[in-house]
Amino acid sequence: MSFANKVVIITGASSGIGAATAILFSQEGANVVLVGRNEIKLASVARKCENPLIIKADVTDMDDAKRMIAETIDTHGKIDVLVNNAGIVRYESILDENVLETFDALIDTNLRALFNITRLAVPYLIETKGNIVNISSIAGKIVPDSRLVAYGISKAGVDNFTKGLALELSKYGVRVNAISPGPVKTDILENAGDETPWECFTPAMPLGKVGEPDDIGHLVLFLASDKAGSITGVDYVCDNGVMLK
Ligand SMILES: NC(=O)c1ccc[n+]([C@@H]2O[C@H](COP(=O)([O-])OP(=O)(O)OC[C@H]3O[C@@H](n4cnc5c(N)ncnc54)[C@H](OP(=O)(O)O)[C@@H]3O)[C@@H](O)[C@H]2O)c1
Repeated sequence: MSFANKVVIITGASSGIGAATAILFSQEGANVVLVGRNEIKLASVARKCENPLIIKADVTDMDDAKRMIAETIDTHGKIDVLVNNAGIVRYESILDENVLETFDALIDTNLRALFNITRLAVPYLIETKGNIVNISSIAGKIVPDSRLVAYGISKAGVDNFTKGLALELSKYGVRVNAISPGPVKTDILENAGDETPWECFTPAMPLGKVGEPDDIGHLVLFLASDKAGSITGVDYVCDNGVMLK
C-alpha cells in the first residue's frame, strides 16, 4: 500500500493509536502531519517518521485548528487523508457535581473539534478526492462501563457524523469511514487517571488479547488506500471480539 506523495494529517499523533498510524503511513511513503500538544511525545514520534511536519496544536482551539490546515497547505499544497484520531476518556456519574464540565470536555475534544477540523479540511479533500478516517469506539455502540456514558455519546456522534458526511461528500468522490476499537494498549486510561492495567481486559476478550495500536493503524491505512475505493460510510469494529459477548 503505497502512500508516496500523499499528504496525511493525523490528529493525536503524539501517542498511542495516532502515533502508530503516523509511523505506518510514513513507512509507506506518506508526508505525515503530526498534530498534538505534547512536544516531547511529538518529537519522539517524529524521529520515527520521514520528513514529518510537526504541528503543536490543541484540536479544540479554533485558531489552532485553522493553523494546522494552513500550515499543511503552506508546506505541502494539498491534503489527501485526514485521520481524526485525537480523543480523551473521562469518567463521570450523572450524580457528580461537575458532570456537565466533564460532558463538555468530552464533546469538545471528541466530537466538536473533529467536526470543526473536518469542516476546514473538506475543501482540500474535495480537490484531491481524498478521504477521512474517524477513530470512534465500541463505547459509542455499547455501554462497557456506566461511567463512560458521556464518552459513548461523543463517539456515537462520531458514528452518525461519519455516515452523514459520507453521504454528503460521495458526490465529490471523497470517502469517509470510521474505526471503532475495543480496548487498545495506549496512554488513554492513564491520561484519564485510571490505573487499571490493560491485562485486566484480557479475560473478557474472545481472541484472548488486548489490542495494539498497530492493529488499528493497519486498518486506517487500508481504509485510506485505493484498495478501499468502494468503501464509504462504514464503521469497522476492531475489538478482538469483545462486542460478541
Ligand atoms: N485505547 C483504547 O482502548 C481506545 C479504544 C477505543 C477508541 N479509542 C480512541 O482512539 C483515539 C486515540 O486514543 P489513544 O488510545 O491512542 O489514546 P492516547 O494514547 O491517550 O492518545 C490520545 C491522543 O490524542 C491527543 N489529544 C487529546 N486531546 C487533544 C487536544 N485537545 N488537542 C490535540 N491533541 C489531543 C493526544 O495528544 P497530546 O496529549 O499531545 O495533546 C494524544 O496524541 C481516541 O479518539 C480514543 O477515543 C481508544
